[in-house]
Amino acid sequence: MNDMSEARQPEAPESPVTPVGVNHIVLHVRDMDVSHAFWTEVLGFRQVGELKATERRPNPPRMRFYSGLHNGNLKHHDVALVENKSLPVVVPPKEFSMFGNPTAVNHIAITFPNREAWLAQLAYLQKKGVEFGRRVDHGMTHSLYIQSPDGYGVELVYDLPREVWEGDIDGALNYVTELPKDGDAALQDKAEGLPVFAKA
Ligand SMILES: [Fe+2]
Repeated sequence: MNDMSEARQPEAPESPVTPVGVNHIVLHVRDMDVSHAFWTEVLGFRQVGELKATERRPNPPRMRFYSGLHNGNLKHHDVALVENKSLPVVVPPKEFSMFGNPTAVNHIAITFPNREAWLAQLAYLQKKGVEFGRRVDHGMTHSLYIQSPDGYGVELVYDLPREVWEGDIDGALNYVTELPKDGDAALQDKAEGLPVFAKA
């Protein structure tokens, strides 16, 4: 029971400890209902909780928590939304653009478990009438970009096998092939003969 109190103070290392990665992201949204619909009905996340009023915080902001499925299991949260009515209105450009948008968030990338799931999601979005902003093959992912209700990008990806990109990550990051955004061609995905990035 006293394990914690008996634990020795950790030795401070010379350099920071490298983390695993991003645990979750919290986004301000102008309209909770609109963004809730986007994150659940468009992107497929599940709501796992919401901020409740307490004695100490009787009037909390509207805040909801969402999870994807991690090998079939929910996580405490991947994403949370906080409603902030004073967020500046961003009028998205007619043509989707990766750069120059007046938003703090450029884009958030969402992982699908495999190629089949990703292609099924693309077909679902197209059937639902969601506009495809940009479709590209990167060296490490195949990606679709769409726009969120608040004007930042959301990238839907599946990861290519590690062997394809780990030899030259920077090369894979700089590689891009633009692909069709409309019709049947927007649902075609090249799985064979992909470039392999190796150390020079
Ligand atoms: Fe990205």
